[in-house]
Amino acid sequence: MIRATTNPEFGDFQVNAAMGLGKRLKRPPREVAEELLGAVNLEGLAEKPEIAGPGFINIRIQPAAMISALEAMDDDELGITPSTDTHPVVIDLCGVNVAKQLHVGHLRSTIIGDALGRMLERRGRTVLRENHLGDWGLPIAMVLHRLRIAGVDLDTLKLVDLDCAYRDGQLVTKRDDRGLAVVTERNIGSHRIAELEAQNSGAQEQRDAAAETLVALQQGDEELVADWHKLIDCTMRAVVDILQKLNVALGPEHNRGESFYRTHLPDIVDTFIERNLAEEDDGALVVRFPNRDRPMLIRKSNGGFLYATTDLAAIRHRVVDENADRLIYVVDARQRDHFKDVFDACRMAGWGTTPDGHDVDMVHIPFGSVLGVDKKPLKTRSGDNVSLASLLEEAITRGQTEVHRRAADENAPTHGFSKEQLDRIGEDVGIGAIKYADLSNDLVRDYVFDMDRMIAFEGDTGPYLQYAHARICSIIAKANENPADVAGAELVLDEPAERALALQLLRYGPTVGGAAKHLEPHRICTELHALAETFNGFYQQCPVRKAASDTLRRSRLRLCDLSRRVLADGLGLLGIEAIQTM
Ligand code: ARG
Repeated sequence: MIRATTNPEFGDFQVNAAMGLGKRLKRPPREVAEELLGAVNLEGLAEKPEIAGPGFINIRIQPAAMISALEAMDDDELGITPSTDTHPVVIDLCGVNVAKQLHVGHLRSTIIGDALGRMLERRGRTVLRENHLGDWGLPIAMVLHRLRIAGVDLDTLKLVDLDCAYRDGQLVTKRDDRGLAVVTERNIGSHRIAELEAQNSGAQEQRDAAAETLVALQQGDEELVADWHKLIDCTMRAVVDILQKLNVALGPEHNRGESFYRTHLPDIVDTFIERNLAEEDDGALVVRFPNRDRPMLIRKSNGGFLYATTDLAAIRHRVVDENADRLIYVVDARQRDHFKDVFDACRMAGWGTTPDGHDVDMVHIPFGSVLGVDKKPLKTRSGDNVSLASLLEEAITRGQTEVHRRAADENAPTHGFSKEQLDRIGEDVGIGAIKYADLSNDLVRDYVFDMDRMIAFEGDTGPYLQYAHARICSIIAKANENPADVAGAELVLDEPAERALALQLLRYGPTVGGAAKHLEPHRICTELHALAETFNGFYQQCPVRKAASDTLRRSRLRLCDLSRRVLADGLGLLGIEAIQTM
């Protein structure tokens, strides 16, 4: 148990293990500490460790060791050790549904999934981003049916048309059985009963019509299939537009929607039957688990397949065909049970191992909801889900307003920039703010979407880090030193603030490794924030341009440059633009 000290007076690292050991061994902790130190060789790495108080071991790294560690990380890897695993990792992200608007849940899934992808790629893993599009099933058939009735020209289809048709479909298929029961029971009036009965039979008709459309679509009716493609294209146009704004490299080529697996489903079910893993239940087919009551339905009594059946097929494809040994599902917490069942069923069916015999790590990241400032799920004033596009628009506008406001100041580095330049920076600030707010908390927790807080240039925010990066860029630019001289400069770490910065920089590689392993982007956020603060401390204590000697100036510039690159790299892993001038 070696920890970084919080107080540099006690050295750089601290070992408190002797206390607990002493208790267990019934020996004085100081004595145990002595013995521990006798068993390790820290020569060339640390000063002679001291034992403080009842038995704390304080370790102080030797400057020469710290310098050579810094030099070792000062290349493109920045201390990040590459992974040796050559299996691909699949990240299931975004998961939008055709004909339905993207909402904040999809925003989280996309931002988190993309950041995880970047982190794993940074460690050298091959990442397959897969958008498990909801593009197959009754809702789409319903939308297709409604669009036909409304006579909408599918070649000029817009997302609002789809949205309307979707709502319309929900409305006309809605039965009001409870209303009918109440009205009948209380004898409220025959005309009211008749009205509700008409609504119910109308709803049934509409459902039947949608079901017929679905059957025709599934049987490959050419015209319907062509129309269906138009629906997908329309949805994807809107999605890709938003993803571009978000700076997420996810396009139609990453779509592997539910429809992709439709031909696999009968075979999946047969496999479960053959391996005695499925049983009939009232005409339907279910998988039962040894440790819980809840069964998982894989085929309905009418022969139809389910969302879960498709996910089984997706896992088999990812493991058996793609040879992936890690499957990461970035899907909101409400689907926790679903994934638990699907993962367990796949393990039972033998798809928990890659064809070359590696265990497959299947993880669901059950991210929390986005709440409004009132701590309730984010809704518009009319009570609808907030659309993604409107949130991003707002963030961008807010970012741009702030950037323009700052640029008006004559001393601002952005003073005199063109409107286009400032707008561009503002957009990066707005998007950076949203992403950082999304990634900087424990992913499982709900978080409050507070635009005022997340867009601030101070505090634990994205713009604060972007600003820190821009500031270092300007320090380096002003020094006007030959970059080659800085890159190879001799490092001096005599001042406590220099040491603190060096230690902070050295933590970057291990942090990225840990964040990628545990799939926790917030570790990177915390580290970058600490780096920005430590850098500020360094810059206050240690003059750079006016350093006492040339050697010292170049050494400090090299520390600046390394800090800048680490910040830029870390922001890159979070998918946030590292801005040069702000
Ligand atoms: N389309 C689904 C939804 O909006 C999310 C898909 C998640 N991915 C998966 N493989 N099930 O809820």
